[in-house]
Amino acid sequence: MHQKRASETTLNVLHLEDSEVDHELVRRVLCSTVESFDLKRVESLEGFAEQLQTRHFDVILADYRLPGFTALDAWQTLQQQADRPPFVLLSGAIGESAAVAAIKMGVSDYLAKDDVAKLAPTIRRVLELHAIRRAKDAADAELARSQKRLAEFAEHLQATIEQERAAIAREIHDDIGGSLAAVRFDLSWLERHASDEAARSHLHSAKEMLGHALDASQRIMKDLRPAILDQGLVAAVEWLAESFTKRTGIKTVVYAFDSSRDIAKAVQLVAYRTAQEALTNISKHAICDLVNIDLSDAEDVLTLEVRDNGQGIAQVELAKPKSFGIRGLQERAKTVEGWLDISSFENRGTSIILSVPLPASAGAMNQETV
Ligand SMILES: Nc1ncnc2c1ncn2[C@@H]1O[C@H](COP(=O)(O)OP(=O)(O)OP(=O)(O)O)[C@@H](O)[C@H]1O
Ligand SMILES: [Mg+2]
Repeated sequence: MHQKRASETTLNVLHLEDSEVDHELVRRVLCSTVESFDLKRVESLEGFAEQLQTRHFDVILADYRLPGFTALDAWQTLQQQADRPPFVLLSGAIGESAAVAAIKMGVSDYLAKDDVAKLAPTIRRVLELHAIRRAKDAADAELARSQKRLAEFAEHLQATIEQERAAIAREIHDDIGGSLAAVRFDLSWLERHASDEAARSHLHSAKEMLGHALDASQRIMKDLRPAILDQGLVAAVEWLAESFTKRTGIKTVVYAFDSSRDIAKAVQLVAYRTAQEALTNISKHAICDLVNIDLSDAEDVLTLEVRDNGQGIAQVELAKPKSFGIRGLQERAKTVEGWLDISSFENRGTSIILSVPLPASAGAMNQETV
């Protein structure tokens, strides 16, 4: 750990210099241009490394040629530090190309000894740049942290939603489904035993209504708790496509692999919800008459493509602040290490492609794609 600067206004300078005369010149320039400074000279690489370990410096000034090493060796030594002060070459002529090469390597600045009078503005400039870079690094790190938090939050939210849906589906199944089935049983009994024609007719229409209610509760359950949980992804997507066609009249063709491969439940659920949202979007926005859904697990990547022949999506539409469908799918894909591609051309349809790498499996080699 480095010690803190003695005073926020004292400039701590480490000077790598073998010439006492040149060092004194630097001291004199700093005396006349910097209000408060602390200047430390070292001339060996070991001394340099030791000083870096011992205390904090705001800036390093380094002569280029030193006994047995160059400033670039010192610069390499400095790279082992986590928090590196700016490093300025302050040297006799080293040639412009060497100076440019050094700066390209990451050295902060170069000042010829003949120009030592410009030392204070040079230090000010590199300190300013250094502060900007540090602020940017801190902002980048904070952004990365907050993106990670967001992804974790999205994952948590999705898991909670799925749990809630499964719980509601269970309730419907056990409570409503159970009661309706019992009522149907009693109605059938009454229908068989009723002799009055009018009563039988009422009982018949009551049974019909009950049939609708049972169908509705089945449908709601399937919406809430996707059939994939029991029958596999292909069956679930086929069921989605079928009910989409029934609802909208849009022809939907599914090409799916015939997989016996075990795909993780979480991945199946992401694929299912992606197909569901893509189809909902098509019914809301696409204006089309054909949808193709391709499902493949070739090359150990689960790929789901939902393609329509509608009006396409403009870039601005994807950035709508109140649209969360596609954004949610992108976050969902990330929760299973996958990603979402959207390709769209005006009046030539939209294609939403989910890709999720699957664990390598020898069995997958034998599977056919229908
Ligand atoms: N298949 C499609 N064809 C044409 N436009 C589409 C299609 N899918 C999405 N869009 C456009 O992209 C926008 C963003 O879609 P997204 O699913 O993110 O939001 P949304 O459907 O508007 O709202 P929600 O948050 O309820 O999903 C839509 O508003 C629509 O303009
Ligand atoms: Mg949507």
